[in-house]
Amino acid sequence: MTTPTEHLVSVDGSDVRFACAEGDTLLRAALRAGVGLGYECNSGSCGSCRYDLLAGEMHDRRPDAPGLSPRDRRKGRRLACQSEPRTDCLVKVGPIAPVATHRPVRQTAELRSITPLTHDMQEFVFAAEKHAGFRPGQYAMITLPDGNVERAYSMSNLGNCYGEWKFVVKRVPDGHATSILFDKLEVGASVELDGPYGHAYLRDKENQSIVCVGGGSGLGAMISIVLGAAALPGAGAWTVHLFCGGRTARDIHVPESLVRAGRRLGMLQVHTALSDVGETEDDTAYRGFLHEAVVERLAGSLTDFTYYAAGPPAMTDALMRALVLDSGLDADRLYFDRFC
Ligand SMILES: Cc1cc2nc3c(=O)[nH]c(=O)nc-3n(C[C@H](O)[C@H](O)[C@H](O)COP(=O)(O)OP(=O)(O)OC[C@H]3O[C@@H](n4cnc5c(N)ncnc54)[C@H](O)[C@@H]3O)c2cc1C
Ligand code: FES
Repeated sequence: MTTPTEHLVSVDGSDVRFACAEGDTLLRAALRAGVGLGYECNSGSCGSCRYDLLAGEMHDRRPDAPGLSPRDRRKGRRLACQSEPRTDCLVKVGPIAPVATHRPVRQTAELRSITPLTHDMQEFVFAAEKHAGFRPGQYAMITLPDGNVERAYSMSNLGNCYGEWKFVVKRVPDGHATSILFDKLEVGASVELDGPYGHAYLRDKENQSIVCVGGGSGLGAMISIVLGAAALPGAGAWTVHLFCGGRTARDIHVPESLVRAGRRLGMLQVHTALSDVGETEDDTAYRGFLHEAVVERLAGSLTDFTYYAAGPPAMTDALMRALVLDSGLDADRLYFDRFC
């Protein structure tokens, strides 16, 4: 049964059916119903949510989304993260998995504080109506009031029952959303927060030797993962290497909360990698790219770890090549959601 403002989506070749509220996307409605369609970025860029529309009408939120190639468009393929059903629909999708984390919820949240971390990174803390249900390393979609711009941001804290959502955001020069966040949004402003999303969350029952790699904008997700490991009952058995990257020392921020987390973990080692070859006062920093730092610093034990990574696609792609293609790490020991 659907209400007049919902449309029924049926999945071809199966008995899977779910309701999609008017204005919601095919992908998010599926996840809210516990139907795990494939996806990564939720923003129209990675292409991992492609599907075929067999019957019904869809509105395309972002007709020029880079996630579809010209060949996909010729074949009539679509992106579930950008498709809003306008009628009941029949769709053909890839493999469906159960949703292993909290189901995403849309809610209003109020901006409570803004804290500068570096010259171009700030922490934004929001208070939402309901509890903050998410796993360390996941992200939420934030719709900003000014211009209705929506972007993905990873939580930098842990899920909690008092509705607190923290994000570390890096300013993008002339970026649409970050200009609003950094220059216009004031404490007390309301945003729409929709989440959690993402597959690159801490697997607390797997390998207790982990490496977290956060390039620039990826720092928040990695803070959350380190805090998540430190909050586990057996935290003393965990070995964690955290790699943070930037161009120069002024791009790096290591929050105080990580120092406290380090006291609970068996071992926490923080490495920094600086890609600009100029002078630096930080003698311990690796000079080069993040993926090179990981390979050099963990040489000999690279394949002992499970990896979590977040940051620009150039960084996660280079890391995947270095670890999986060049060093023989099993691809299922590297978790990341592309920030594209
Ligand atoms: C899974 C994920 C997690 C992320 N986590 C973080 C984080 O924790 N911290 C952080 O600083 N950044 C994060 N990002 C990046 C963030 O979502 C923004 O891309 C970034 O802040 C720049 O946004 P902007 O609007 O300022 O820049 P712009 O250059 O204006 O836009 C940036 C990107 O937004 C996309 N975009 C353009 N139009 C649309 C549209 N209509 N709908 C949706 N997307 C559109 C484009 O692909 C473009 O690459 C994450 C991205 C993803 C995908
Ligand atoms: S394009 Fe839809 S999830 Fe990335």
